[in-house]
Amino acid sequence: MKFRLKWLAAVAFAATFPAQADTFDARVTVNASQPGAIIDPNIYGQFVEHLGRGVYEGVWVGPDSPIPNTRGIRNDVVKALRAIKIPLIRWPGGCFAETYHWRDGIGPRGERPRGVNTAWGDEVESNHFGTHEFMDLVEQIGAKPFISVNLASGSPAEAQAWMQYMTGPASSGAGQERARNGRSEPWKVPFIGIGNETWGCGGNMTAEFYSDIYRQYASVLQPYGMLIASDANSDDYAWNEIFLKRALYRHAPDHGTTLAYIAKQQQIGMVSVHFYTFAGNDWGKKSPAIGFGETDWARAMERTWKTDEMVARHSALLDRHDPAGKVGISFSEWGAWWATDKDRPSNLYQANTLRDAVIAGLTLNIFQNHAARVRMANLAQMVNVLQSLVLTRGGEMLLTPTYHVFDLYQGHQGAKLLPSRVEAAAYSVDTTTVPSISVSASRRADGVITLTLVNLDAKRDAKVRIDLQGVVVGKASGRVVTAKAMDAQPAFGKPDPLAPSPLQQVQVRGGAVSLTAPAKSVLVLEMQ
Ligand code: AHR
Repeated sequence: MKFRLKWLAAVAFAATFPAQADTFDARVTVNASQPGAIIDPNIYGQFVEHLGRGVYEGVWVGPDSPIPNTRGIRNDVVKALRAIKIPLIRWPGGCFAETYHWRDGIGPRGERPRGVNTAWGDEVESNHFGTHEFMDLVEQIGAKPFISVNLASGSPAEAQAWMQYMTGPASSGAGQERARNGRSEPWKVPFIGIGNETWGCGGNMTAEFYSDIYRQYASVLQPYGMLIASDANSDDYAWNEIFLKRALYRHAPDHGTTLAYIAKQQQIGMVSVHFYTFAGNDWGKKSPAIGFGETDWARAMERTWKTDEMVARHSALLDRHDPAGKVGISFSEWGAWWATDKDRPSNLYQANTLRDAVIAGLTLNIFQNHAARVRMANLAQMVNVLQSLVLTRGGEMLLTPTYHVFDLYQGHQGAKLLPSRVEAAAYSVDTTTVPSISVSASRRADGVITLTLVNLDAKRDAKVRIDLQGVVVGKASGRVVTAKAMDAQPAFGKPDPLAPSPLQQVQVRGGAVSLTAPAKSVLVLEMQ
């Protein structure tokens, strides 16, 4: 049985166990005897787009740069991403993918055409970072590629030729061309995105039109990798409903009408969802990245919690069409989107603070708790754009608070989800009321239980008691990311105020674990 937070229970608990004004009590129950779905490592995936300094400077500096690099890719960024086992990178966009012609990005770099990035600020695109450079990046990191093909200005033939170029045997014509450009051995492309935001920058399509286009692309791309459909925009459930019916059922009318059958034929591996966090729900009114108040904090938490409802409802839709559970959800773009730099708005560069860490912890807990369907996710974006893992300034690099959360969550990768339940008073500011505590727990093959807990409350520490059913815990230790200020942030060349620190005073007594989760914190606990 799956436990979920229950509001009534939470309120009742608060009434029964009064806490001091600056603290509140939380009780967490984890059932270790009912392991569920495996938490797919791909939910810790990333997204890199030709946008601002996301590619150029962020990962690509060129082989002649004084910034230490390997074949043009910066060493500091690769080292940082390897350390947290980044599993997957989506590229080349985003909206950029919808104007990208892959042939512009192969061959001698000096001879590649210089284009204009019409999706992002009309900046000149050198095309120096293309297919070979991206595949080198994923190989250096030890990750897998997720390639988004161009639907808005491309064609199935162009997308198919790209896949043949990347995956064809060395003896094929496409493989020989690849070898002439420096790579004889074929690459693997495990994931192929059929378009990006096809309801918007990816062609302004209706769900009906996209479904037909999808079928056309799927029929030529199906031999090359798992196919991932363009997203439903956030809570646009009707989009996925239409897509699942029209794109897929009609595809195989004579062979059976179940989605499971179609998934088996590899015509659909995942449907996708894109959803960004603001403080509130108004795309046009974004909160500043720093210097915001508690109302903005709470409204950002409320918006992030919507991810849970969104995943649950997209999952319910799939449950109806695909009871066998073959088709997954790829949350292909997620993260915080704050007010952008006035001088270079199209760069989407923003500071990354403790608020971003808490948003990351909450979002990853939600994905993990829906592991049966959520099989991939991509933070937008990996470097220097929106809610990044690392930021660069010329030759300098820093790890963001979001990076530290991905670090804390590593123990969940490939582990089995354990059902968990929280009872705690809600967190309220002005007219915003949200659950104050989010948890997710899993068990690894070696028996270690990892529990990640987020205290969203900006002011009050939580006195947490964790009861484990079906296992006797002998020892527990943890790490925490927190700070005094809501907008605490790291600075280049200075000690990191948000680096994870050991969790103090974790007590194990009678099989239960007690600890204090500081206000506005993300923590991990390892128990065995
Ligand atoms: O991540 C930035 C942009 O957000 C992407 O290009 C687009 O897909 C989304 O709207």
